[in-house]
Amino acid sequence: MSIKVWNYLAEYEAERADILDAVDTVFRSGQLILGRRVRDFEGAFAAYHGVPHCVGVDNGTNALVLGLRALGVGPGDEVVTVANTAAPTVVAIDAVGATPVFVDVHPETYLMDVDRIPEVVTERTKCLLPVHLYGQCVDMTALAGHASTHGLAVLEDCAQAHGARRHGRLAGTMGDAAAFSFYPTKVLGAYGDAGATITSTAAVDAALRRLRYYGMEDRYYVEATPGHNSRLDEVHAEILRRKLTRLDDYLTARRAIAARYAEGLVGTGLVLPALAEGNDHVYYLYVVRHPRRDTILTELAARDITLNVSYRWPVHTMKGFAHLGHRQGDLPVTERAADEIFSLPMYPTLTKAEQDLVVEALREVLAAL
Ligand SMILES: Cc1ncc(COP(=O)(O)O)c(C=O)c1O
Repeated sequence: MSIKVWNYLAEYEAERADILDAVDTVFRSGQLILGRRVRDFEGAFAAYHGVPHCVGVDNGTNALVLGLRALGVGPGDEVVTVANTAAPTVVAIDAVGATPVFVDVHPETYLMDVDRIPEVVTERTKCLLPVHLYGQCVDMTALAGHASTHGLAVLEDCAQAHGARRHGRLAGTMGDAAAFSFYPTKVLGAYGDAGATITSTAAVDAALRRLRYYGMEDRYYVEATPGHNSRLDEVHAEILRRKLTRLDDYLTARRAIAARYAEGLVGTGLVLPALAEGNDHVYYLYVVRHPRRDTILTELAARDITLNVSYRWPVHTMKGFAHLGHRQGDLPVTERAADEIFSLPMYPTLTKAEQDLVVEALREVLAAL
């Protein structure tokens, strides 16, 4: 049996009638762009989070770009984030003309080490961009303290954290704005690219709406700042609105798989995911750690089980960011983790038999190392 790190086909079979009905409903509605379905999804996603505003956009990267612009971040500003993230977090900062500044991550959770924020704040720092990576939240209480001390905006990158909570509060409700991706692999995934930015501030919402629509409020007239074309499609909005009603079921399934992995892998020498105190993890990724990572990946691939590494190359070491002037060794915790971490197959329809095969294969390979 071949087991992939992610596979949507069983979920599609289970939800096919509903997804096809969503597509048909939109196609027959006579409205394909910025109509009722986008408004309905935005309302539902905002309500899920208990915030007044949600703006649907074309992908998670642009959800960040528009979020940064709506918060007033631009050329000359510095944005504090992490290098252990998907490159688009940092690409978005670059896209608005700002400079990414990295802090190292916590050695157990691999999330932003918020205690290090004061070390990198300068008079040019404008915004903190924490990434709720793998499905659990950054320490937002401490982060908010630094933001208020230094007068900084906070944009949460929630691309991997739909439904995650910290001390009961949902990811995306603890900053000035929050960006979500609905890329198909995500905890709430579309059948193509999609994203959204949420906020509690009316002025930020108004700016986001203009920016996703060329900078226009009324048709054919750019009032102040030229924007983008970053609209969410009606068809994806309708699919996402229906899938949102099942989000909590997806979370339950992911948590059950994580618990089964933890039970099966205890005592094998693998470092299992650490849950930070106060966090409810949604296990977008189940990230484990071992010094012989690459051998383990090869051995499992030989058994037709594909694993993944998120992320093998910390962003500050990528050639595309060489202009930032970083050197190997600048972020030692991030760099060490990047050599050893890997992710196990994780998606709600992964069967118990498949989970058991992954566990058995890992136990066998680890015992022989
Ligand atoms: C942490 C993080 N931020 C941003 C993004 C960008 O989202 P998208 O691929 O929808 O542009 C992703 C997903 O790739 C992500 O994982």
